[in-house]
Amino acid sequence: MQNFTSVKDAYNIQNLVNEALLMKKTPYADKHIGKNRTLGLLFFNSSLRTRLSTQKAAQNLGMEVMIMNVGADSWQLEMNEGVIMNGDKAEHISEAAAVVGSYCDIVGVRSFPGLVDRELDYSEQVLNQFLKYTGRPFLSLESATRHPLQSLTDLITINEFKTVERPKVVLTWAPHVKALPQCVPNSFSEWMNRADVDFTIAHPKGYELAPEFAGNAKICYDPKEAYEGADFIYAKNWSSYQDYGKILSSDPAWMVDAAKMSLTNNAKFMHCLPVRRNLVVADEVIDSPNSIVIQQAGNRVWAAQAVLKEMILTLM
Ligand code: CP
Repeated sequence: MQNFTSVKDAYNIQNLVNEALLMKKTPYADKHIGKNRTLGLLFFNSSLRTRLSTQKAAQNLGMEVMIMNVGADSWQLEMNEGVIMNGDKAEHISEAAAVVGSYCDIVGVRSFPGLVDRELDYSEQVLNQFLKYTGRPFLSLESATRHPLQSLTDLITINEFKTVERPKVVLTWAPHVKALPQCVPNSFSEWMNRADVDFTIAHPKGYELAPEFAGNAKICYDPKEAYEGADFIYAKNWSSYQDYGKILSSDPAWMVDAAKMSLTNNAKFMHCLPVRRNLVVADEVIDSPNSIVIQQAGNRVWAAQAVLKEMILTLM
């Protein structure tokens, strides 16, 4: 695997899931393969899970890890070509990415969308500039439109916890006080469209994902109807794609609560975290035995480790 930016970079998603689950049983079996290799992790945005799990995964493979918060620890980067750099950006991506590439064997970047200019965000400018200038294999730690390490984690977790061969998986929108990106739902949908699951996306009208991400998912505008018979309820807020970056609803009927969970097939509750309690999900659900959010977050290590192993093997 040269780069990991979307499900399209995974040749066989089930093999990747199996590899990750094997690593969970034997975390240090490949400790030798990352020797004398360096992973650089650049964060334009905050992180708890992605930062620590990817670092842990790399260490399990014997890699050295360098981490930088871009902008806070380093110079502000100019992403546009051909501009007169007389503003607040002190360094151009062309030099910065090339320099990072000269220090590292694999480069990971997290950069969220601005949620102002849809065309710019969906062009994946930051990701593509790093791909262009680092000259190294590239690992997405969440880009403007996708969060593939999270989605692989989610698929691993569904494989671990499913009780029927082809589970009903429901991605449900939930309220939030801030306008959030579509990255997690886009990516989750993209991966679920490739997986052997019965997949539904539930949200209020106006929150339709871009068609290339929704794929063949069933769309449901009634949360109660969507929850019927579900094996997994995956909650996430996102802002509107159509009315780009806007909050169109704060309807509390979309919060995940025990009443709606009682309509399911004893469904497991999932969320990528961080999550706002009693806004996105009621305490009674996230604190229940059906909540697997901690196990899900734990699986971030094995998803990252499986991907990094594939990328290191490409370097050999
Ligand atoms: N789910 C996730 O990516 O968590 P962080 O934002 O804390 O990395």
